[in-house]
Amino acid sequence: MSPVLTTDITAAAAALAGGELVAFATETVYGLGADAANPAAVDALYRAKKRPREHPVIVHLADFAGAGEWAARVPAAARALARAFMPGPLTLLLPRLAGLPHLAHLSGGEWVALRVPAHPLARRLLEAFGGGVAAPSANRFGALSPTSARHVAAEFAELERLLILDGGDCAVGIESTIVGFEGDAAFIVRPGDVSAQMIRDAGVALVPPPRAVAAPGTLARHYAPRTPLRVMAAGEIAEQVAAAGAAGLAVAVLSRERVEGAAAWRQAAETPAQYARELYRHLRELDGAAAGLIIVEQPPAAPEWEAINDRLRRAAAG
Ligand code: TXA
Ligand code: MG
Repeated sequence: MSPVLTTDITAAAAALAGGELVAFATETVYGLGADAANPAAVDALYRAKKRPREHPVIVHLADFAGAGEWAARVPAAARALARAFMPGPLTLLLPRLAGLPHLAHLSGGEWVALRVPAHPLARRLLEAFGGGVAAPSANRFGALSPTSARHVAAEFAELERLLILDGGDCAVGIESTIVGFEGDAAFIVRPGDVSAQMIRDAGVALVPPPRAVAAPGTLARHYAPRTPLRVMAAGEIAEQVAAAGAAGLAVAVLSRERVEGAAAWRQAAETPAQYARELYRHLRELDGAAAGLIIVEQPPAAPEWEAINDRLRRAAAG
C-alpha cells in the first residue's frame, strides 16, 4: 500500500478530525496537514517529516476571521496585509494566545504563524474541517518542497493510505511570504510571491528583521536537492560543464540556453512567475538525473527575482 491521491474533501476532513495526517494542494506548495489542536496528530506530523521539534509549523485557516483563536493580538499592519493578500501566498507571524492548552504543543515560542491558502481544494478542506490545520510543506526536513501530488506520494511512499488531496500543479510553486511585525511596521522573514513592493503598496512600512528568527526557512541550507548545486553566470556554464566532463563528472543544468554536454537540461523560464512555478519540479528532475553536480544559471538580481534567488542560495549552501 502507498499514499492515495484523491479529491474527496469529506474523507480528508474526516481523516484530519480522526487525528490522521492529510496532504493537500495549496497555491504555493503541497502541505502535510494535521489537526493543529491535537497534540498526538502534530507529533505524528513531526515524525513523518523527520523535522526537529524546535522548528514550528504554520497553522492554516479557512478565514482570517478565525485568527483570534490563535493570536493574542493582530497589529493594524497585519490586518492591512490580511485584507490585501488573504486568501493567498502570505503567512503572518503574530503574538500567540497564551495559556491555551490546545496551543501548548505547538513549537514557535511566543509566536504563531497563520496562513489562509487560496487554492480551492485547500479552502474546501479547511471549511469542511472547521479548525486550524498545522501544515509544513509535504517533504522531508530540508528537502525540496513538493509542487504536485505525485511529488508528495514519492516523498512519503511508506505512509500507507495517506490521503493526498490532488489539486494539480501548484500555481505559485514556492512557499508563502512570511511576515512578522514590530510596532506599526512589518519585516519579511521569508520572501515569496507577495513581494516587498506589494507590501509597501498595501500601505505597510517594511523594516529589516530585528533578529534572526529561528526557523527552517531561515537556515542557510534548506530547500535543497541531494545533488550538490551551484549557481553561476550564464557565461561560465559551458566551460564548467566541459571541465567536469573531462574529470568524469556528469552535470545537470537549469539555464535559459541549452548547454552542450549536460547530462540533463531544463530550460529556465524568462519570467519570475513561471520560473517559480517550475523551480522545484525542475530541481527534482535534475536531482534524479544521477549527475554529480547541478548547475543553475544565476537569475537577474532584480527585486521580482528575490524569492527565487533566496531559494537558490539556500539550495546551494553547505
Ligand atoms: O507556502 C507555505 O507556507 C507552505 C504551505 C504548505 O502552506 N508551508 C510551508 O511550511 O512552507 P514550512 O513548515 O515548510 O515552513 C514554515 C516556516 C518555517 O520557516 C517555520 O519556522 C516558520 O514558517 N514558522 C512557523 N511558525 C513559526 C513561529 N511560531 N515562529 C517563527 N517561525 C515560524
Ligand atoms: Mg518546508
